[in-house]
Amino acid sequence: MDYKKLVAEQILKTVGEHLSYDDVYNMIEVPKYSEHGDLAFPAFSLAKILRKAPQAIAEDIVAGVEDEHISKAVATGPYANFFLNRDKFADEVLKTVLEQGEHYGDWTFGEGRNVTVDMSSPNIAKPMSMGHLRSTVIGNSIAKLADKVGYNSVKINHLGDWGTQFGKLIVGYKKWGSEEAVLADPIAELLRLYVKFHEEAEEDPELEEQGRAWFKKLEDGDPEAERLWKWFKTESLKEFNRVYDMLGVEFDSYAGEAFYNDKMDEVVDLLETEKIATIDNGATVVHLDNYDLPPALIKKSDGATLYITRDLAAALYRKRNYDFAKSIYVVGNEQANHFRQLKAVLNEMGWDWQEQMQHIPFGLITLGGKKLSTRKGKIVLLEQVLNDSTKLALEQIEAKNPDLPNKEEVAKQVGVGAVVFHDLKNDRMNNFDFVLEDVVQFEGETGPYVQYTRARAMSILRKAGKEIDTTAPIALEDDYAWEVLKLIENYPNVVKFAEEKAEPSVIAKFVISLAQAFNKYYANSRILVEDENLNSRLALVDATQSILKQGLDLLGVESPDEM
Ligand code: ARG
Repeated sequence: MDYKKLVAEQILKTVGEHLSYDDVYNMIEVPKYSEHGDLAFPAFSLAKILRKAPQAIAEDIVAGVEDEHISKAVATGPYANFFLNRDKFADEVLKTVLEQGEHYGDWTFGEGRNVTVDMSSPNIAKPMSMGHLRSTVIGNSIAKLADKVGYNSVKINHLGDWGTQFGKLIVGYKKWGSEEAVLADPIAELLRLYVKFHEEAEEDPELEEQGRAWFKKLEDGDPEAERLWKWFKTESLKEFNRVYDMLGVEFDSYAGEAFYNDKMDEVVDLLETEKIATIDNGATVVHLDNYDLPPALIKKSDGATLYITRDLAAALYRKRNYDFAKSIYVVGNEQANHFRQLKAVLNEMGWDWQEQMQHIPFGLITLGGKKLSTRKGKIVLLEQVLNDSTKLALEQIEAKNPDLPNKEEVAKQVGVGAVVFHDLKNDRMNNFDFVLEDVVQFEGETGPYVQYTRARAMSILRKAGKEIDTTAPIALEDDYAWEVLKLIENYPNVVKFAEEKAEPSVIAKFVISLAQAFNKYYANSRILVEDENLNSRLALVDATQSILKQGLDLLGVESPDEM
């Protein structure tokens, strides 16, 4: 039941000649103070048309109201204020939530069409950065939101597994590396070799030449080059997968840059034959002056392809293979121009579907105020962060609930959940600072706070020890319960809004508000007393825990039943 719709219909009875349904619907506000009502309609803009004071219009509107869902309507100055019938509202909303379970808040407008989500996409032989963490968790949540509104998400890990750096890495490995060292600590060792290559190359420029030669061999299918490249990739993936396992993230495809090696010719040929690209000093270039963008370099004069060449082939492949309704790229804001160029080149080809491609950027994470960089070796190992937060969570659990049976498991859910939640609670474009001790806190606007609130609701239900009767009438009058109910009722709209904006923080902020409202209710009412409203109160507790769990799930955060 959409209560705003219901109120809009009542208002239209009076002003329907002058305003459309949509106008009215969009003008309805939620009053700042709940004493003023649950929904309000400002009559100012009608004064001119009706040649009447807004106060009088508001009076007319409330006089015409008649609906059992509205307990009273009052004109307060220029506003028509509506108070909803709390018992009816509680009965309808809670029964819907309990009946629909995890499907509450589902939408169908995605119509089963595919949404590809390019996410995580770290570079082989390099550590996964905090930026890749952001892409992973934001992408994962966006994919879940897409599924929730009826799309079918396709999570793609566009691994950075191709490029001249692999020639350099092979040289580095052959000169200074060993199999044992790589096996012992693959990414750290490969990074060391890569960094060493650059240091040595400053003294000895000849090395760059060797690097290029080995990359050429790799491109030409030289068996040794290929064997080493594949091995670097396998070992790197083993490490990445450990992090994905901890985060509970799975991919539908690991088609990385190398996957497009045999798929680029088609695009490059088309760009040339359609005269979209020009040849400048032997290089293939698309000029994008009309888009206020720098030219896109598609192929170097030595024939080497680039990052964007592979993205062009990938875009076309995804359109053909998945026939996407939306194609999303969750990549840091520093690549904004790359994606503008990518879309512009596709647009030049006349491929309108580039409009369905969306770069979803995000800001930087700083650690204690400092920007993180991999290049200088100042890397924060993601796994380390997740392990540290798990340890911290375990300490807090030991202090709060030492008898908890599966402590280690819960500590992981809380520790990892805390990091993920912290990443998702701010608007994704915001930069934010990461201080582990603030993130793993059971109080404040944190993941553990929301998890803890839900665990508290679960414990109330366990103590009550009885089934909720969803056939009995549900009635809840008090103000604290009312705040919780209004939030619950709005959850489907929150889901829709978050999906449309590709903004998981909308969900994170919602679950924080719901947890806060529930804790106020908990602090101010005696839930477990035996009276005629016990069943109603338990229904509220159950609906709350259910939605907190669902909301956390949309963020990729687990919900322990006890903690
Ligand atoms: N591997 C790239 C990086 O770490 C991100 C790739 C993003 N996806 C894409 N289709 N370009 O910077």
